[in-house]
Amino acid sequence: MSRKLRIIYYVEPDAGALARRAAQYFVEMADEAVDRRGRARIAISGGSTPKAAFELLGDPGQPWRGRMQWDKLDLFWVDERCVPPDGQESNYRMTREALLDRAPLRPEQIHRMEGELDPEEAASRYESELRNSFRLEGAELPRFDLIALGMGPDGHTASLFPHTEALHEMNRLVTANHVANKDTWRITLTWPVINRASSVFFLVSGADKAQILNEVMAAPLDVERLPSQLIWPASGILTLILDKSAAAMLPATDEEGCGFLEREG
Ligand code: 6PG
Repeated sequence: MSRKLRIIYYVEPDAGALARRAAQYFVEMADEAVDRRGRARIAISGGSTPKAAFELLGDPGQPWRGRMQWDKLDLFWVDERCVPPDGQESNYRMTREALLDRAPLRPEQIHRMEGELDPEEAASRYESELRNSFRLEGAELPRFDLIALGMGPDGHTASLFPHTEALHEMNRLVTANHVANKDTWRITLTWPVINRASSVFFLVSGADKAQILNEVMAAPLDVERLPSQLIWPASGILTLILDKSAAAMLPATDEEGCGFLEREG
């Protein structure tokens, strides 16, 4: 059975505009989830691109801080580096500094991955955390309202790196992943969990992403080399929020900066 994926992309002129668009998108998607179900369960990624959006969301001088329904959020992570929560590399630390320290969230709304533990243990503890928070039974998968992803210049997303074990993990919700060429371990949501979310978007910026972004979106499927191609949401829709440099090799947008692609797989 062939599946269709509709890819919608928004292209902003520069990194500042990209961060504003992303902040606005977080607020709107949280509002939609709250209207639908009373709360918004959001999973976020690390990386430099979301950081700028998180800083805007946490800034009392910016409109988004006052607009976000903070008391209705449950915040989860897509992936984590295997370091303590105050480590330079920690995705949690980045988010805490950019957002959590300034946002009115209660500790029980923040569900971090424990990068300081043995990777396998951290993955199974996070899986239990998801099972409890989402009240899952048996083989049920969680359905996040929104998952925010980044994309590396090597085609990775979340901590699903090219030619790594985690690309084959279809039964777990969360897995430890050894990344040999970085000589490191990561903890990551598995791709079936990401694809089950109500909404999934990529936030991608910079000229060094143009080539890989175009390959991920338009080249024949080769998920071992381009793990970002595993992201094929069950909703049939994938959103990309991009800056002009990252979007340079995609088909031109309309005058509102919006473009569409369709894939079959
Ligand atoms: C991480 C990530 C990762 C990230 C991409 C893009 O912790 O490394 O979650 O998947 O999103 O590498 O990162 P940039 O936004 O820095 O390009």
